[in-house]
Amino acid sequence: MEITRDQFVENLNHDLSLEFTSIVQFVQHIATVTGPEYTSTVEELTVHVGQELEHAKVLAEQIAFLGGIPTTTVEPVAPAADSRAALALDLGLETEQLERYRERVQQAADLSLPDVAEALRPLLTETQEHVRDLQAALGQ
Ligand SMILES: [Fe+2]
Ligand SMILES: [Fe+2]
Repeated sequence: MEITRDQFVENLNHDLSLEFTSIVQFVQHIATVTGPEYTSTVEELTVHVGQELEHAKVLAEQIAFLGGIPTTTVEPVAPAADSRAALALDLGLETEQLERYRERVQQAADLSLPDVAEALRPLLTETQEHVRDLQAALGQ
């Protein structure tokens, strides 16, 4: 289905709020996920959180460029029962974001915005890496 440029900007703003959620969630999980089996995962999350900040900045720039106002909304972060549950929540969020970025890159192309699609591409590839890292950490 064809979407309008306004709907596209709305979608980007929801993407942005989910990136803010990632940042909040990862900061909490980096500090609270414990256990020798997750030591390397926590190190990876520390790298990821810097990339999420970069993703948020890219999205805010593209939203403003398209005439929108970048959101400051953070989606609520669900509590996790233990370390494994925390990483499962992270995987769920990253998987949702991967689906969203696949759709967003396609929509940018459909709207004849190849420059925006290009700007979003690193978010797509890095989000896939985050999904793969978390799948590996959870033995999936
Ligand atoms: Fe991200
Ligand atoms: Fe991510």
